[in-house]
Amino acid sequence: MSELKELLTKDGSISLRSLFFQENFHCLEGALKETEIKFTNPSDLKRFKNKSLNVLDICFGLGYNSASLFRNLIRQNTFLNSYALEIDEKPLEYALKNKLFRNLWDPKVLRILNSLFQNCEYKDQFFECNILWGDARKTINDIPKNIKFDLIYLDGFSPQKCPQIWSVEFLEKVIQRLNTNGYLITYSSSAAIRKTLKNFGLCIFNIKPILTSKNSWSNGTVAIKKISQDHLNSFLNFEKLSLMEEEHLLTKASIPYRDPSLNSNTKDIIQKRVQEQLFSNLKTSKEWREKWGMTK
Ligand SMILES: C[S@@+](CC[C@H](N)C(=O)[O-])C[C@H]1O[C@@H](n2cnc3c(N)ncnc32)[C@H](O)[C@@H]1O
Repeated sequence: MSELKELLTKDGSISLRSLFFQENFHCLEGALKETEIKFTNPSDLKRFKNKSLNVLDICFGLGYNSASLFRNLIRQNTFLNSYALEIDEKPLEYALKNKLFRNLWDPKVLRILNSLFQNCEYKDQFFECNILWGDARKTINDIPKNIKFDLIYLDGFSPQKCPQIWSVEFLEKVIQRLNTNGYLITYSSSAAIRKTLKNFGLCIFNIKPILTSKNSWSNGTVAIKKISQDHLNSFLNFEKLSLMEEEHLLTKASIPYRDPSLNSNTKDIIQKRVQEQLFSNLKTSKEWREKWGMTK
């Protein structure tokens, strides 16, 4: 699983490429930049100043999403209870040995990451952090049942490469852990993922792109169980889906990934979905792209 190749991204932060999944951990524009734009900013952390929150970081990797969270919460005296799920220890081990990575963070953030690596936990007056190593489809069951999360980060490899993390059955387990006003945040704007979350009754929002062009319309998705109009007006980093995005959810691309046993391999999940798409009467995403002028 852990054949990894080092990458230097354009903002000067390091990342990895998984030779097993044939995918980079981050976009080449910047690992740190991606974390801040797609996870930290949409989290709207100021809401928790001098308060407490629970966070679940699924697919922890090198730990950028949690490290950036820790950094922001340390500055505002927030009490944190966090859980991270990750199948492979190598990315964090690699990150902690890497000088460029270590230089990004203050000593307390590094102490937490080191302790997670060595002891699977960290505890002080403000923070209680845990990491559960293993397949997230199983380890999610080991989180104490009474904990609901205010923020859930979902940062698996893309659905086509790692569908296990995006199946209807796994997402149902994830949503069961989301607090009523909690945010589930992912970099993915896949129609299949958005439709699955919507079918579970969540309100879906688009993380605003930094530069709007016809091919770059999203920085990901925020899903929330319940939302008031006041709350809606206060959003800075995300917005309601456009008509174009809503119509994306009516195409074959919205057919979900299924893993009924929560034990299937990539090939089986993808093949089952391709079969379902073949027999579906929904529009193709090519037709959708043509309608919205996204073809070259
Ligand atoms: C895109 S990377 C995550 C990047 C990460 N958030 C970071 O800041 O570096 C995807 C991660 O998912 C992990 N992963 C893949 N399949 C998994 C599974 N079934 N359960 C838990 N983690 C998994 C990989 O080992 C990899 O570290």
